[in-house]
Amino acid sequence: MAEKKVIWITGASSGIGKALALKFAENDWIVAASARRENLLKELQNINHNIYPYPLDVTDIEECKLTAKNIINKLNGIDICVFGTGMHDPKSEKRFNLDKIKEIMEVNYFGTMNSINSIYDYFSEKKNGQISIVSSVAGYRGLPAAGAYCASKAALTSYAESLNFDMKMKNVRVSLISPGFIKTPMTDQNDFPMPMIKSPEFAANEIYKGLTAKKGFEIHFPKGFTYFLKFLQILPNGLYFKLVSKGMKKINY
Ligand SMILES: NC(=O)c1ccc[n+]([C@@H]2O[C@H](COP(=O)([O-])OP(=O)(O)OC[C@H]3O[C@@H](n4cnc5c(N)ncnc54)[C@H](OP(=O)(O)O)[C@@H]3O)[C@@H](O)[C@H]2O)c1
Repeated sequence: MAEKKVIWITGASSGIGKALALKFAENDWIVAASARRENLLKELQNINHNIYPYPLDVTDIEECKLTAKNIINKLNGIDICVFGTGMHDPKSEKRFNLDKIKEIMEVNYFGTMNSINSIYDYFSEKKNGQISIVSSVAGYRGLPAAGAYCASKAALTSYAESLNFDMKMKNVRVSLISPGFIKTPMTDQNDFPMPMIKSPEFAANEIYKGLTAKKGFEIHFPKGFTYFLKFLQILPNGLYFKLVSKGMKKINY
């Protein structure tokens, strides 16, 4: 019997990461599930024994390194990493808030960098496998009342593109995940209508298909929404600001 493949998912205690952990576990993958809330990771393991909790705060560089080392040793390596940790704080985005901007960058961008740092040498030497970064369509262009979040995601998207050049030479696939609106505790904080919002299970299906496909860089969904945002991305600034300003009327400043 072929050995089961191993995926490491950060941000696995809720929302998209949780649904993704269950999706891979149901498909007979061994899942190393990371987030800070160990009790939620243990609940996941009770639902599916293919899931193993590896509690972690991604802002801690040494903890990231130790966790990656433990997973590699105990689960016999890692085939795919999905770095999906993220935070958003819509209330703080309506006024300039330097502390929050730093915190969001620390978790979303540097937390992902700490995670990549923990497996970079392993994948480079192994010369196969896949590193996947969860960004967002919010990384395409600056959106109203979301400056810190958009900037953190734009940084991740850009970094993923650069990493792709580097890792291709080492036969390691890099993929970028750009979800539209997905109903999770994160988006439950939003007080405006979210077009084409989908379930975490929908997101997990799309991500599973994309990650287990033979190739491809960006996994984006739902397509009706993401292609519209890709269209906005190529508009000249004047037209972009005019169109998006109309949508701003729905935001309670
Ligand atoms: N929902 C959407 O519409 C949407 C759209 C585009 C992109 N995304 C991205 O998708 C990812 C998942 O978001 P979600 O919507 O599923 O949100 P969520 O339900 O709030 O999940 C966020 C996850 O990140 C973990 N996390 C936060 N800070 C952490 C830290 N310092 N160390 C380790 N883990 C930490 C949380 O676990 P603990 O609190 O237990 O640590 C949780 O598991 C995020 O990167 C988000 O930006 C979401």
